[in-house]
Amino acid sequence: MKLIQTPHEMKIWRNSVKDDVKYSVGFVPTMGALHAGHEELLKKSKAENKISVLSIFVNPTQFNDPTDFEKYPVTWDADLKIAQINNVDVVFAPTKELLYLDGYKFKLIENDFSRYLCGKDRPGHFDGVLTVVMKLFHVIQPNKAYFGEKDYQQFQLIKGMAEAFFMNVNVVPVPTVREKTGLAMSSRNLRLSEKNRSEVAPLIYKRITESKTAQEALEKLQMDGFKIDYVEDRNQRRFVAVQLNDVRLIDNVAL
Ligand code: PAF
Repeated sequence: MKLIQTPHEMKIWRNSVKDDVKYSVGFVPTMGALHAGHEELLKKSKAENKISVLSIFVNPTQFNDPTDFEKYPVTWDADLKIAQINNVDVVFAPTKELLYLDGYKFKLIENDFSRYLCGKDRPGHFDGVLTVVMKLFHVIQPNKAYFGEKDYQQFQLIKGMAEAFFMNVNVVPVPTVREKTGLAMSSRNLRLSEKNRSEVAPLIYKRITESKTAQEALEKLQMDGFKIDYVEDRNQRRFVAVQLNDVRLIDNVAL
């Protein structure tokens, strides 16, 4: 497994496999703190491509709240082990100075769907996500890139970006992986207390699947003790974002 830490080196490596048609490159972008959900993305990439690249980069520009950024879990050694177990070919882990050479003077903005749901509560969040993913796509030039459906709004925006800019990358959704309790796998679950993780947080999935309307789910979640950011039905899906002791959790299901 190769570890690459500069965009320059990454581009050199990519160019070295470029002309060989048998090399299709699959890409799994992450912010580390890898879990079974990420492993599912890696498995799909491995199955569908000759080479798989994993990026680990906690992207500062997508955190509208600096304390959320500071508290984001970093589990570097464990991440590398997971990458190794899943036979990742290249881990790309750049510094923010090298990925944001411009100091974030240039950014990518979507003016429609990014303003709703998570974009409403987190101004600038999707500008940061789209900008970093655009940078990563340019440096890695994957044929296919894999995104979890837990972040369905993110997946749709990235797919839209790739289409809008005629990018040569196929953006592939991968179904949400859940803990036994139904709780959607997330790096943020590491910040929950044991009781909240096993007993309270699983109610999110329960409520959005059992309720007939978004309003009913919202009221039940409020009674369960969550602080609600939103529960909304849109584009045939029910989306939810809540906070549990300052840990923000999201989920969604097809209706
Ligand atoms: O989903 C994530 O982990 C991040 O938003 C992503 C896509 C890696 C961009 O930083």
